[in-house]
Amino acid sequence: MTILITAGPTREAIDPVRYLSNRSSGKMGYALAETAVKAGHRVILISGPTQLDLPDRVDYIPVESAAEMFSTVEHWIGKADIAIFAAAVADYRPAKVPEQKIKKNNEHMTLELVKNPDILGSARSQFNYEGVLIGFAAETENLETNARGKLERKGCDLVVANDVSRKDIGFDSNENEVLFVFKDRTEAPPKDSKQHLAHLIIEQAFELAENR
Ligand code: CTP
Ligand code: CA
Repeated sequence: MTILITAGPTREAIDPVRYLSNRSSGKMGYALAETAVKAGHRVILISGPTQLDLPDRVDYIPVESAAEMFSTVEHWIGKADIAIFAAAVADYRPAKVPEQKIKKNNEHMTLELVKNPDILGSARSQFNYEGVLIGFAAETENLETNARGKLERKGCDLVVANDVSRKDIGFDSNENEVLFVFKDRTEAPPKDSKQHLAHLIIEQAFELAENR
């Protein structure tokens, strides 16, 4: 099977030397890629900048901005049987990016931001993707309700929900505790390494693929 995975943060240019981004390490997405490759599958890894070593034998497509990630996913998703969206895509980008460096000429400055396209949310509605669709949900409150909302709005088969307000798990850490939110049920696997969670997620993905 072919598995498309998005990973890492995106970078949204402010000017030629600055950007907006977030604390995503990319660890979850890379662990998913490694697990799927080791299981003998083709992996297309579309990733924002990370400090991580690339797993062997993945088809790696580096991107920076959400817009770039969007068009790269649009181009490749037709090849995928399973698509897993683990990237922490910046929700907004600066409205205008000047060609020259912004000078500190004023005491105050305001950056106007505009919303980025929702890549996962476009998979079904714009890219007409029909394979297994798995998203993540980063929440600081109402974990299950918010994740279920995302599952329904974005047409996912599974949303892996993360409580990002907890310091011991999530974004930068090696461990994670998540909820698996399916269309018909919710499961709560125990806190575990991102490696082992990646195995569980890939296992669920194959089960969903068999039943599609
Ligand atoms: N996602 C995406 N493109 C975006 C924003 C999010 O593909 N522009 C994907 C993420 O990769 C993740 C899922 O959507 O799989 C949920 O991301 P999250 O940030 O939790 O939710 P949002 O839909 O962005 O909503 P909010 O941040 O307001 O909670
Ligand atoms: Ca978001």
